[in-house]
Amino acid sequence: MFLTDSEKKILDGGHGEAAALAMTILTDLGDAVNAKRLVKISHVHTDSGFYLGDAGLEFVEHLAALNGRVAVPTSMNNTTYDIEHCGSYGVPKELGNKIKRMETAHLAMGVNPCWTCAPYQDGVLPKPGQNIAWSESNAIVFANSVLGARTNRTGDLLDICCALTGRAVEAGLYISRNRMAQYHVLLTDFSQKTLQDPRLYPLLGYAIGKKCGNKVVAVSGVPKSVTMDDLKGFGAAIASSGATALFHLVGITPEAAVLEDCFKSTGESHTIFMSPGDIQKAEQLLCTAENDRLDWVGLGCPHFSKQEFMTLSRLINGRKIPASLLFSVFTSRKIMAWLKKKHLLKPLNDAGVKVYSDGCLLLYPNFIRSSGTLMTNSAKAANYVFSQSGFKAVYGSVEECVASAFNRKITRRQS
Ligand code: F3S
Repeated sequence: MFLTDSEKKILDGGHGEAAALAMTILTDLGDAVNAKRLVKISHVHTDSGFYLGDAGLEFVEHLAALNGRVAVPTSMNNTTYDIEHCGSYGVPKELGNKIKRMETAHLAMGVNPCWTCAPYQDGVLPKPGQNIAWSESNAIVFANSVLGARTNRTGDLLDICCALTGRAVEAGLYISRNRMAQYHVLLTDFSQKTLQDPRLYPLLGYAIGKKCGNKVVAVSGVPKSVTMDDLKGFGAAIASSGATALFHLVGITPEAAVLEDCFKSTGESHTIFMSPGDIQKAEQLLCTAENDRLDWVGLGCPHFSKQEFMTLSRLINGRKIPASLLFSVFTSRKIMAWLKKKHLLKPLNDAGVKVYSDGCLLLYPNFIRSSGTLMTNSAKAANYVFSQSGFKAVYGSVEECVASAFNRKITRRQS
């Protein structure tokens, strides 16, 4: 693989041992995938602080011990559990200490400790066409699709290598022709009311991901009024039921002013029709609840936004959630600080809502209880929760989640 003089210098140790090790890994990967060169990147979102075992911890501690420093601005994906309040999850002390060590190693390397899987809500907004290296499937698909930046699905630990070198392997979605759509999804028979309903978008993402796998898709028929939260839920779902890293919404997202833009260098399209019946099927597939009993309402997968918290506060409106039900919401430190500043946190806590920063909804129940039924507004969480923690799942809008919590049983909106 061709390396520039400055890349050879990094490889030869001119920027320290940690950067040299990271560059060795990148160049080995580049050779393995027959890449011609590396690309310069200007931002990294790293998931290398997500504790999944000692090997990852030892690797990042090794890089920090070699005085590794990030070469480009680098934000942190969320970690497994709330770093400062591990005790409130019942996380064993030894595990809590390891999560703290992850934090120490990353802070030493100069990362931005935002600890969120939705960095785009915290003001981390790469520009269209900007090469970046992001991890976390929902953040990746949002960056590529909604922001128009360029990243592959960068793997955990490879991301920190990108951060230390300011480089990624030139392959996949860094190359313009690979950003063309392979499938065209055409929405048919949806009423305007349904298209304006936030409830639709996570289910639509889940349904498309199931059909399109890891392909780049162009979707026609989504109205311009679609919100950032809708796109967040859609992207998280499409990247979890499939492995899509890029979607185009015709007339909405930066690389899809018109349908032809999505296919211009290939001219190929395979059309899939998507109707309300497909959405119903998606919801049925996501529902593993056996009856209307509810044990846990979990929101914030990806992390809850300010707008979502305002909606939640309005829906709760001073009422108390039954004490026997868990109601938890996950968000970033920055939005947690905003909640406090706006005096929204205490009323939520008083109502029985627990708000956590830093952590991941899917890991939460591991130390609380081993089974039950989760209701969530996240198709991603509903898709994964059983395999992660043994919980059954049911999907519902935030409104339905709140109504269900007060009724202590799964409650659907009357349409
Ligand atoms: Fe974020 Fe964990 Fe969901 S990383 S997107 S809360 S699975």
